[in-house]
Amino acid sequence: MRECPVRELLCSIGPHKRFYFSLVMASMFCIIFYNTYLSTINNPELQELLYYQTQQRNECQVNGIATENESVVKEKQEIVEWTDRLFTRPKCAGLLQNITIGKWKIDEPMNEDLSKELKKIHQNYRKKTGIPIHPWRTDHRCGYRILADRVSFSWPRIASFCDPQSSRPCCSDQLNGYCVPVTKELTCDCPNCIDTRKYKDALLAHWTTKDKRCSWKNFTSLEACAVLNRLSRHENKAHVHFIGDSLMRNMFLGITTLLTANRKNGAWRKCVSDKLKKLCKGENLFLMRPCHDLAAVHNLHDLQEVNGSLCNNHRNFEAEYNEYGMPSLAADFVKFATNVKGNENSYFVVGVGLHFQCNAEKVIKMFLEPAIRELDYSDTSWPRLIWVHPLSIGLLKPPRYLNTQGDVAISQFGVKMEKYLKDYRIPALDFKYITKGVHSYDGTHYGAGVNIMKAQILLNYLATL
Ligand SMILES: *[C@@H]1O[C@H](CO)[C@@H](O)[C@H](O)[C@H]1NC(C)=O
Ligand SMILES: *[C@@H]1O[C@H](CO)[C@@H](O)[C@H](O)[C@H]1NC(C)=O
Ligand SMILES: *[C@@H]1O[C@H](CO)[C@@H](O)[C@H](O)[C@H]1NC(C)=O
Ligand SMILES: *[C@@H]1O[C@H](CO)[C@@H](O)[C@H](O)[C@H]1NC(C)=O
Repeated sequence: MRECPVRELLCSIGPHKRFYFSLVMASMFCIIFYNTYLSTINNPELQELLYYQTQQRNECQVNGIATENESVVKEKQEIVEWTDRLFTRPKCAGLLQNITIGKWKIDEPMNEDLSKELKKIHQNYRKKTGIPIHPWRTDHRCGYRILADRVSFSWPRIASFCDPQSSRPCCSDQLNGYCVPVTKELTCDCPNCIDTRKYKDALLAHWTTKDKRCSWKNFTSLEACAVLNRLSRHENKAHVHFIGDSLMRNMFLGITTLLTANRKNGAWRKCVSDKLKKLCKGENLFLMRPCHDLAAVHNLHDLQEVNGSLCNNHRNFEAEYNEYGMPSLAADFVKFATNVKGNENSYFVVGVGLHFQCNAEKVIKMFLEPAIRELDYSDTSWPRLIWVHPLSIGLLKPPRYLNTQGDVAISQFGVKMEKYLKDYRIPALDFKYITKGVHSYDGTHYGAGVNIMKAQILLNYLATL
């Protein structure tokens, strides 16, 4: 009886009313469909993506583009010797905690040119996406619960904070406060205060661990190659998969940028149209959708011609990004894991959560547990898993996402995930401190500075295996 409630309803309202009912329903569908259509063609970001996709096809011919010349890759034995020469192990006990707890210290002297350039990139990005450039209010109210004026409908409302250049740079309460001056008595050091002047760009700073006895390695690109080469044992090339949402994509771009030692365009794929080359330099690779979708590599194989060659022709590993960040892709991830099952020297560096509303039970039940079951996972089976927690939020995080993606939600998510991961002895990378007090472009995503550091921490961990 409950099987087809719509048909029941139709029968109960009689034959000619049924006609009008169907008419109303049909028009409703039309309106919904038309609105979806309109929102697609009115979405500047999507339009831009379509535009660049067409340009990419028209301008770019894959044939004839040079890439790593496989025939000049060195002999296995030579690679092993090269790797042993370059490989160094970090000296840091309890590395996963010790290395990730610390703070960014601005380099002295500060690189003023880069600082100005980054400020401009932030402003351009905000202008393009419709995020207010100056989110402070004239009534000096501030905090995540106090909205800034809207400048566009293409981005959700953001919170208001204090102008770092003004005489009142301190927000007295990060949820609902006032911008107040910083004095000897009122230092803005309270846990709920936000001193906007203290926000940093990771590219202008270096990472210092809280426990000074932990000396992490800031690997050069060739040393990073050595760490990854060293994972290839017994004939099987190491294969590192970065799996999950945009935060994992950016981590993959971070390691690619580190390996090519080229922040400007080291992560470009083989065939990038001239239009995209103009748009997609440096930080924009991490930010703009046409850039990370179309111009950036998702697989080291697709790297454009690297001058000389990646790892000086001594590369014996693969790395790629596998996009499985949405709950709707969880089943595909499990299938993917099944295909990699048993592949010696494969690593899954996995991070999801934001698209699951930071619901740990949901991530475990839909995403992680089914894969772990398929893999008969243990810490001696392949692929090995390494978990990555979500990052801290930035000031631009739209308040409407605070309940499900705020720092409190993210931290509770982390605690629940750790508890689950412990049973399987899966290590977890927590970049909460690496991203705390760092300028984020949109409240969620960070640029090369943070993402290269995320890659460095992974490499430090891999170097201990
Ligand atoms: C690769 O390098 C070798 C030796 O330098 C050269 O003979 C060969 O033509 C190159 N192949 C390609 C596809 O560039
Ligand atoms: C951090 O490193 C130091 C020295 O290497 C070590 O004694 C300490 O136990 C480590 N801390 C943790 C939390 O493992
Ligand atoms: C690592 O070394 C590079 C090259 O010397 C430097 O530019 C970078 O700032 C260092 N990274 C950190 C996080 O200290
Ligand atoms: C490649 O490297 C060579 C020698 O180091 C240099 O002369 C040349 O300008 C580089 N080319 C590019 C495109 O960076």
